[in-house]
Amino acid sequence: MCGIIGYIGNKDSTSILIEGLKKLEYRGYDSAGICVKTKEGLKVFKKRGRIFELEKLDELKELKGMIGIAHTRWATHGEPNENNAHPHFDCSKNIAIVHNGIIENYHALKNLLEKEGHQLSSQTDSEIFAHLVEKFYEQNLEKAVIKTLKLVEGSYGLVVMHKKEEKLIVARKGSSLIIGVGEGEMFVASDSAALLEHTKKVVHLQDEEIATITKDKYIIKNIDGEFVNKKIEEIKWTVEQMEKKGFKHFMLKEIFEQPQSITDTIRGRIKDRKIKITVDFRVDSIKRIIITACGTSWHSALIGKYFIEELTQIPVEVDYASEFRYRNPVIGKDDLVIVISQSGETADTLAALRGAKEKQAKTLGIINVVGSTISREVDSGIYLHAGPEIGVASTKAFTSQVVALLIFALYIRQKKGQELDQELLRELEELPQKVKEVLKTDKEVQKIAKEFTAVKNFLYLGRGINFPVALEGALKLKEISYIHAEGYPAAEIKHGPIALIDEQMPVLFVATKNNLSAKIISNMQEVKARKGKIIALVNEDNKEIKELADYLIKVPQIINELSPVINVIPLQLLSYYIADIKGIDMDKPRNLAKSVTVE
Ligand code: F6R
Repeated sequence: MCGIIGYIGNKDSTSILIEGLKKLEYRGYDSAGICVKTKEGLKVFKKRGRIFELEKLDELKELKGMIGIAHTRWATHGEPNENNAHPHFDCSKNIAIVHNGIIENYHALKNLLEKEGHQLSSQTDSEIFAHLVEKFYEQNLEKAVIKTLKLVEGSYGLVVMHKKEEKLIVARKGSSLIIGVGEGEMFVASDSAALLEHTKKVVHLQDEEIATITKDKYIIKNIDGEFVNKKIEEIKWTVEQMEKKGFKHFMLKEIFEQPQSITDTIRGRIKDRKIKITVDFRVDSIKRIIITACGTSWHSALIGKYFIEELTQIPVEVDYASEFRYRNPVIGKDDLVIVISQSGETADTLAALRGAKEKQAKTLGIINVVGSTISREVDSGIYLHAGPEIGVASTKAFTSQVVALLIFALYIRQKKGQELDQELLRELEELPQKVKEVLKTDKEVQKIAKEFTAVKNFLYLGRGINFPVALEGALKLKEISYIHAEGYPAAEIKHGPIALIDEQMPVLFVATKNNLSAKIISNMQEVKARKGKIIALVNEDNKEIKELADYLIKVPQIINELSPVINVIPLQLLSYYIADIKGIDMDKPRNLAKSVTVE
């Protein structure tokens, strides 16, 4: 949600800030703005829409200064327009701020400020920061920010600058901010994507830490004003990994990266037919597992439930993080709570994790972004190593999450002294090769996509371990093509959704062979009898399915536990091509953002 970049150094900040914003655009893209400290004071320019709209402004050519901040927005308070775009000024226009997060006591603070004569000019909660800093400012920006933060309830990634001070003040609570350490220059950004081309040396701020950044150094304190010592870390991702490499969109690139991302998730974790991972607590005494996550990550959790229960005989519950955090769940010290998050910053998942820790559960994170908040707060973690995922729709992180969950299930089994299924291990090692094969369905899927660009609805049906794949297929389609889509366990349709089926309704069956194949064929017949258009995803030549289906997508055969990884890929491609034919920029679908750091 929202991208922040700040610069202080000897270079012209405007182009650095604009280029940085472009790298962060996937976090929010309804409006953008920039503030640079010039000889005449702080200059702010804002524009509704994408960064390129801001970049087109003639005024930016003349905007010269070596300190600046910029922001790309995903609206929470106040509609996306120029007025509500960041940076925001105080009344005197001496102070400018950019903010990511939500101020929960906004109304109380607004009343207080208005009573004191401050005039707020936007509908945002964020503007409050500028006025509070103005209220407390007595020739020391850091002190004014600390006083401000003590009044604010809610979350923030905040950068503040003052017309008379050669520094940036940066503060974080619940919304990531990273300091990039350069030679005679410093950066601050919501994530490392915007820093990579300048520096790989970073310092991750933690909640309630405040940094004062000048061009040569940074000083970090906690909210009580005590110094905090932090070590510089190195970003492992490369600039090349963050680029499109000739693909039309990041989403397509990321779909095609899956042989590599899965290889990287597995790498070093299977050796001599054994699972080699380190977990900082005993897993053989776990009595129950609760997996909690949001969106696509929640779908991988549902798949994990199937094989964790099967392989370990430990009962598994899966819960939406947004529900889990508020429902006072019964959790004991023998329970393990697994949180899954690509970004490691999702607000609901983070809150669910904190709730589980309060109740003394052991916690494990399955996370992609190294150094992210969730990855720092879990007792133990398994990184996906899937590389940066820039497209808003999650693809390669999903398949890596499923693989990581399977590795963890096998690890528990091993720790319990039970045999590992050697065929499963072999298939896991061969998975990247099978993923390469399934990507060859690309052209076929593209042809099928052309037939469905005008439809209004879509059903995805699957059974068993492939039911969550149906959910994920439907989610991918609706979020990037804006076609209404639902996923169901195939047998459920006769309890309601079958009423929707007529010749206008496409129904995609995940019908690869398993113990439920015969049943899924019956479900297909039910759809055919009502003239639904059937797309069947299969992995064998099945005469009956061939007769029933209008379109067939054939994928390689694989052991049941790994079939979701293979089966989801044509579904990712189908959504991608439908969206592309419809002319939608699926890397930045409307109303969405990559990292959901607000409730
Ligand atoms: C869908 C999608 C979202 C995310 C969800 C959780 O394609 O990307 O549903 O999966 O917002 O995000 P993370 O995994 O970062 O916690």
